[in-house]
Amino acid sequence: MITQRTVERILDTAQIEDIVSDFVTLRKRGANLLGLCPFHTEKTPSFTVSPSKNLFKCFGCGRGGDSVKFLREHEGFSYPEALRYLAAKYQIEIEETQEQRKDDPEEQLKDQLFVLNQYTRDFFAQQLFESEDGRQLGLSYFKERGFREAILKKFDLGFAPIGGTTLTNQAVQDGFRPDILQKAGLSTSQHRDFFRERVMFTIHGLSGKPVAFAGRLLGKTVKGPKYINSPETPIYHKSNVLYGLYFARQSIRKEDNCYLVEGYTDVLSLVQGGIENVVASSGTALTPEQIRLIKRFTSNLTILYDGDAAGINAAMRGLDLVLEQDMNVKVVLLPDGSDPDSYLGELGPEAFQTFLKENSRDFILFKTSQLLQASKDDPVARTEVIKEVVRSIARVPDPIKRGEYTKVCAQVLQVDESMLVAETNRMVSADMAKDRKDKARQELRENREPDQQVTGSPSIPEAPRRLPTQEMDLVRVMITGGDKLIQVGEETTTVANYLLSNLEEEVIQEFNSPLLRAVMEMASAQLRSDAPLTPQFFLQSDREDIRDLAIGFLSPDYQYSDNWEERYQIVLHTQRMPDDNFARDAQLALQRFQLHRLDQMCSVNAQRIKEAYDTGDEPLYLHYLKFQQELQALRNSIADQDLNTVILK
Ligand code: CTP
Ligand code: MN
Repeated sequence: MITQRTVERILDTAQIEDIVSDFVTLRKRGANLLGLCPFHTEKTPSFTVSPSKNLFKCFGCGRGGDSVKFLREHEGFSYPEALRYLAAKYQIEIEETQEQRKDDPEEQLKDQLFVLNQYTRDFFAQQLFESEDGRQLGLSYFKERGFREAILKKFDLGFAPIGGTTLTNQAVQDGFRPDILQKAGLSTSQHRDFFRERVMFTIHGLSGKPVAFAGRLLGKTVKGPKYINSPETPIYHKSNVLYGLYFARQSIRKEDNCYLVEGYTDVLSLVQGGIENVVASSGTALTPEQIRLIKRFTSNLTILYDGDAAGINAAMRGLDLVLEQDMNVKVVLLPDGSDPDSYLGELGPEAFQTFLKENSRDFILFKTSQLLQASKDDPVARTEVIKEVVRSIARVPDPIKRGEYTKVCAQVLQVDESMLVAETNRMVSADMAKDRKDKARQELRENREPDQQVTGSPSIPEAPRRLPTQEMDLVRVMITGGDKLIQVGEETTTVANYLLSNLEEEVIQEFNSPLLRAVMEMASAQLRSDAPLTPQFFLQSDREDIRDLAIGFLSPDYQYSDNWEERYQIVLHTQRMPDDNFARDAQLALQRFQLHRLDQMCSVNAQRIKEAYDTGDEPLYLHYLKFQQELQALRNSIADQDLNTVILK
């Protein structure tokens, strides 16, 4: 783990304008910098960078945050990856706690594998471009297929020599241990090269490091399988990798779409033809991990199917997994006998692009018509088709989208829409019941008590998660202005101190949102240890959800309403520019919170009064009645509180 001290040094040093300008052209506009947003397509710049706040914000798409957030969104880095990137850029030495790395043999092995793979990547490339065999066999093969040198270099293509031990011997001579070569899948147990007389493809991880290799037979010589691939290693898990994603990610983000093809050579052809937002599944069905990888960059997936795919229906079933992840899936069916590589070669890049645009069709509709065609007039087969279509629709998490699909599919299938709706709902409930059972089973396995939602039977979908407004407001003031000095009566104090001295521990414990409660607890602990409660404190939290919350509140334009309103149906009550008046903002937030709390207590107590009255328990009735009066009085006094008792310092 990177130490907190290092994290702070990195975040204090990193200047948002330095980081962003490596990827986006920025122009000065007043105190800020302005550019075209890298996260969505736009013609007029609305992407703002504020050096003074050290944050970025796009007014077009709403994305915003600090340097780390930018790198995570733009480069797809994990949190530690982003920190390491920044540390390298500013030459900050990283301190790490012993927990991981350095002393961990597993991490050590991974490092060794990466170094070896880099060496091997360079070795294969050198063989391709500089050795006699490589040039005559490998380079000429690629050239014949129309791949230009630029693409060969960009994708780290290479050549595995014929000899059978060239790589192994050379690597050992250069200091690599034979057992590491074996673990990497590059040498056999007989100390021979695993890849021989093949053209080589380097498979890159998301940060561009070579994680594995694939080798293709030269031409049509029948000497074993067409492709052989590195085995699974500690740095290569086939199901977590998509070929080409490292090079495609920025374009995927920009185009807000990802093309999925089957083969390595399809990726190369498309990229060479100017279509850069393309990845390959390497001939297998998409895994949930791969879908999640794509989802980091876009929710739109367009799959290019080879025209001759006999198993096209089987392949389509796998796609329900993608629908489940709330992705919009389109498909393009290529003419019989072609794959993307060959068809692009036939049409040329421009016509191919047009072809893609004109022939991409919504997956569910495509599947419906595809199945319908296959079933012809067979009534039994038709019932199966309907079931199959319903299965897909039921996977779509968004009920509105589901509704649209049932409508259109009913038309295509020529069945009654209400029948399709009923079938879909049945399937959705069945899926949910199954999910609940799976979850319950898992919780039992984990030896936890099942929560009520799991055992409770009604299959009503959960309401969208709501963060309580009043709690949110308090937390917002705490994060954005906790360290600000304000005047309360005679006394000068901080906003944080003011808020916390008016909220008892138990009240914080009663917060409805665990996230917001955690923030208040953190603040309270920080205050007790007499440490400052700056926004940085929250921005540097080791909890991602707290960092995100802080970033949301601290974005330059401070528009948490759009994001939060959309996600949690929260309407912004306080003023839009709280920087101007922290004292008033703090007091209003506190006041609203207390009033809301008292209102809740009043209504609970009113219920008790009614019950005591109904059962004829007079002493209890009087007791609650008195309590109600006290609550009301307290409520009134808070509501009347003179806002001027708090003055901005
Ligand atoms: N594949 C594999 N092992 C094989 C065959 C195929 O791993 N024996 C994977 C490769 O990732 C390959 C993909 O499946 O890229 C698609 O296979 P195919 O269409 O046969 O190969 P292409 O990529 O089209 O290769 P080429 O154009 O060179 O024939
Ligand atoms: Mn091909």
